[in-house]
Amino acid sequence: MHLNHPDIKEVLVTAEQIREKIQELAPKIDAFYADKDVLLVGILKGAVPFMADLSRAMQIPTKQDWMAVSSYGSGTVSSGVVRILKDLDTDVKDRNVLIVEDIIDSGLTLSWLTANLKARGAASVEIVTLLRKPDAAKVEIAVRWVGFDIPNEFVVGYGLDFNESYRSMDGVGILSPAVYS
Ligand code: PRP
Ligand code: MN
Ligand code: MG
Repeated sequence: MHLNHPDIKEVLVTAEQIREKIQELAPKIDAFYADKDVLLVGILKGAVPFMADLSRAMQIPTKQDWMAVSSYGSGTVSSGVVRILKDLDTDVKDRNVLIVEDIIDSGLTLSWLTANLKARGAASVEIVTLLRKPDAAKVEIAVRWVGFDIPNEFVVGYGLDFNESYRSMDGVGILSPAVYS
């Protein structure tokens, strides 16, 4: 679905910009892990497109698993409450874990998740996120790779939803307030 849509107030990142960014990030991640065994952990559901595109742009072999945690619910503001809705199938003990996320908003989800995976005995836990909202941060988290820093607006597309809509948009844009007010 194209980003050029009446519900999108402003385009923030086009499909082409996402492709270019992934081409830039993938070799850096490849080099970082070199001959290490890496487990990509995608955070459902928002990270699905980024996981698919990033992992295919990487040249080193990867294994993949998924977790679903809740933070936003159906609203537009982070609640800070993190619940595991679907856990990993993989034991991460002694594994090099790379969390693949679509967006870091308050940072609460990944702050909690990073600590959780380290507590399970992961050898390393790194984060790659396509988007980050610096002005929305409520906790400091160490993020190894960031695609784009964006303003603190409600954004949708490329995996990001509002009430499960707009995930299939090819880029990222600010949702028109008329849609949710
Ligand atoms: C969104 C987004 C991140 C998280 C970021 O997911 O995809 O996973 O919130 O928020 P935070 O930094 O404030 O914790 P959401 O909970 O909406 O689930 P979804 O990916 O299934 O849409
Ligand atoms: Mn998510
Ligand atoms: Mg969501």
